[in-house]
Amino acid sequence: MTMKKEILKNNKTQPNLKDYAVACKEFRWEDAENELGLSTKDGINIATSAIDTHAASWRKNKVALYWEGADGGCKEYSFGDLQRESNRVGNMLRSLGVRKGDRVFVFLPRIPELFISIIGIAKIGAVAGPMFSAFGPEAIRDRLKDSGAKVLITDSSLRERVHQVWDELPDLKTVVVTRTVEGGGGGEKLWKREVRYEEEIEKESHHMTVEPMSLDDPFYMLYTSGTTGKPKGVVHVHHDMISHYITTKWVLDLQEEDVYWCSADPGWVTGTVYGLWGPWLNGISQVVFEGRYDAERWYAVMERHGVTVWYTAPTALRMLMRAGDGPVKKCDISALRYICSVGEPLNPEVIRWGMDVYGLCIHDTWWQTETGAIMITNYPSMPVRPGSMGRPFPGVKAAIIDAQGRELPPGSSGILALKPGWPSIMRSIWKDKERYDEYFKIPGWYTTGDTAHMDTDGYFWFIGRADDVIMTAGHRVGPFEVESALVEHRAVVEAGVIGKPDPDRGQIIKAFLVLREGFNPSDELKEDIKEFIKHRLSGHAYPKEIDFCESVPKTRSGKIMRRLLKARELGLPEGDLSTLED
Ligand code: WT7
Repeated sequence: MTMKKEILKNNKTQPNLKDYAVACKEFRWEDAENELGLSTKDGINIATSAIDTHAASWRKNKVALYWEGADGGCKEYSFGDLQRESNRVGNMLRSLGVRKGDRVFVFLPRIPELFISIIGIAKIGAVAGPMFSAFGPEAIRDRLKDSGAKVLITDSSLRERVHQVWDELPDLKTVVVTRTVEGGGGGEKLWKREVRYEEEIEKESHHMTVEPMSLDDPFYMLYTSGTTGKPKGVVHVHHDMISHYITTKWVLDLQEEDVYWCSADPGWVTGTVYGLWGPWLNGISQVVFEGRYDAERWYAVMERHGVTVWYTAPTALRMLMRAGDGPVKKCDISALRYICSVGEPLNPEVIRWGMDVYGLCIHDTWWQTETGAIMITNYPSMPVRPGSMGRPFPGVKAAIIDAQGRELPPGSSGILALKPGWPSIMRSIWKDKERYDEYFKIPGWYTTGDTAHMDTDGYFWFIGRADDVIMTAGHRVGPFEVESALVEHRAVVEAGVIGKPDPDRGQIIKAFLVLREGFNPSDELKEDIKEFIKHRLSGHAYPKEIDFCESVPKTRSGKIMRRLLKARELGLPEGDLSTLED
């Protein structure tokens, strides 16, 4: 361990947030804005604050990104490097005709170009739409079509999935492809409206004029699932950076010498906010690992880069716990000083295991794609109550309410709600005012879709989702998307999809299927359907379990009664069946 890390690790008495109660009392968002040095009169841009400001300071040569490829190769980028590279991407996009407000989607593995592209997109005032690299053509089509994206940046391993749906995407003018086979024109053959990333940026300058934006202008959008309909495009604006900056500083406790690793992909909100913007707004060095989950490999990544602060998910922690102490003992991860978790309930058992093997307490954090930043959480200076999500971030008012918006006393279960007004709250659902308004149906509150209770000391305890949304391995999946994809399989006429409790993944997706005449239930057919969904929709959203049945219970108006499917699956009371069709 280096001297500096030794000091950091032992310096436990000095977290960034020293006293939660005092911070709550004195907190003003304007103070965070001032710390960021925002001068709104000439326009702002999150990319200027996260990258260019550091590139113009003594941090110019500080490593911003330690990148490790799936094959073990490593690359480093300083803040200066990220500035120059993202300028070239911004210039390239302008040359391709992208203007302020246009949507540019990014469909890449976790390679440096993914991060550089998102920054470049923000620099020209366009709206970045990161998509997870496990998405199949269906998921890609839904997002590109709804957003009207003009340009897509992808790589040679993923472009074929875009080809399958391009003729359904009239707004998509250009696809920029990186990592094409060496040798320029002589290599991989491109389609007419595809261009090579490396060739295009080569033509561009490392300098650019960053688009001056207002705090209310959008800079990214992420699609997320609800109970009904296709995924919805949650739109976030430059104002978010104030929440990004201060939550990263106080919750993740990042300090100048830290080496920080967020294991989430930017295709999910955790990866965009805390695996890109938040840490860089704080001028911190981040690690990005391209590869997938693997216990030994993950610890090796931490050892190699000397990771000091780690933000991960309960599913990953449970898998690491299951992998036993063997893999941990093989590596020196003694630089690690702080761990946070997000996405699903963090089991007290996992916290106890973490204390044993890492000698550190894992800190749970709660938030959503729509809230844009951590809302309820634990802090280094506040005692953890295992099983609780912690307490609201200073400046955020959270409450347990009833359907009329009345605040319920401690101990009562109810709707988890937040008082609107924090900087990073979503500003719209893309082209869908109705679905946006649904979040604000109870006057004075933003409702989260979660149920919870609060104890007498103001700690919040998660109970569950109030709707049919499935959380599997920390990923939010809407049953409707999966059902729609399932009925596209030639053997399936009807599908009902639920989340089923699972010890590793929180929930797994379970599908009840009615087969078309002429198809017989078999294990081969189950496998075929799983593969179909994996490839059409996404690797994370396929049903791990399938049951064939004669019919799927529906209401008289034709809605699938998922609650009933779930009750039957889990052997619970079936409840009110008065709306059931025959
Ligand atoms: C939903 C939001 C924001 C990052 C990841 C997921 C669940 C999130 C916790 C937690 C229990 C949690 C909630 C929430 N969730 N954090 N600490 N404990 N549940 O973002 O895809 O927008 O999903 O994830 O149900 O509503 P998302």
